[in-house]
Amino acid sequence: MSLAAFGPGKVILLGEHAVVYGAQALAGAIARGVHATATPASSCTLVRPTGLKPAVRQQLAAAFEAAAEAAGRPAVQVRVESDLPISMGLGSSGALSVAVARVLLQASAPSGTPSARRVTEVALEMERQFHGTPSGLDHTCSASGAVIAFRKRKGAELGTARTLEVPTPLPLAVVLVGERSPTRSTVAALRERQARWPVRYGRLFDQIGRTAAEGIAAVEQGDLAALGDAMNVNHGLLCGLGLSSAALDAAVHRLRSLGALGAKLTGAGGDGGAVIGLFDSTAKARRATTSIGLPAFTSTLTRSEEHTT
Ligand code: MEV
Repeated sequence: MSLAAFGPGKVILLGEHAVVYGAQALAGAIARGVHATATPASSCTLVRPTGLKPAVRQQLAAAFEAAAEAAGRPAVQVRVESDLPISMGLGSSGALSVAVARVLLQASAPSGTPSARRVTEVALEMERQFHGTPSGLDHTCSASGAVIAFRKRKGAELGTARTLEVPTPLPLAVVLVGERSPTRSTVAALRERQARWPVRYGRLFDQIGRTAAEGIAAVEQGDLAALGDAMNVNHGLLCGLGLSSAALDAAVHRLRSLGALGAKLTGAGGDGGAVIGLFDSTAKARRATTSIGLPAFTSTLTRSEEHTT
């Protein structure tokens, strides 16, 4: 008997990076993600995808070991397949962690569906191998499959997530601007600047958290214009933190000129990655993805488990 599980990718609408320092964030699961299957075997193993760089292969092996240990080492062979662009800030490692955690937990306790909390705990063991000290936003969003408000207060082991009602769907254009440095190094470089100038950086994190809180309220009220404005302001604050690039800024401005209510980089950013634009209809988001001249796709965020592409 073979088991199957899915871990969706995510977009951060508001609050990346500041979330690492205790600010609130807003993120949503998208339809693209990672599929994991498990078949009976003599031990708990992962078939690693071919074509990975040696460092990534090693990291993946260590991450799988951590998840296998946390899930009780069921005797299965796990395979993964993804339709999510890798290393673009769309939560590919979080999605992989959730898909693998889910399938391993299913194999360990075949009688029941694992709880979201248990999936989140096991996925965190994998995410730590990929990112060092992640806030937990990526894999928590993936495990929820929903639009969430997330916060991890300073010193807390785990963050808390609240699933949002989404009275008005959120049509997004997701644009892949280009390769970027690993999240771990972008986060570490920001930590150095923050440690040197804590007051100035603290002010910016605080502003991002306040903007995220306003954006969360806008989602719950179905006010896309207010959410779009919060996204624009958040992009400016991310620029202030030194997390954007000329190419990311150009894509953000292009999305705005194509009618986006708001546009910003999403995920770790730095020297590349993805940007998102919020539109008032999926048709407009789709038109933007065809005119922008970069790889792009649409994703309309709705209530939990109701994603459309
Ligand atoms: C990466 O997708 C999001 C960051 O805020 C890092 C984290 O939350 O761990 C940049």
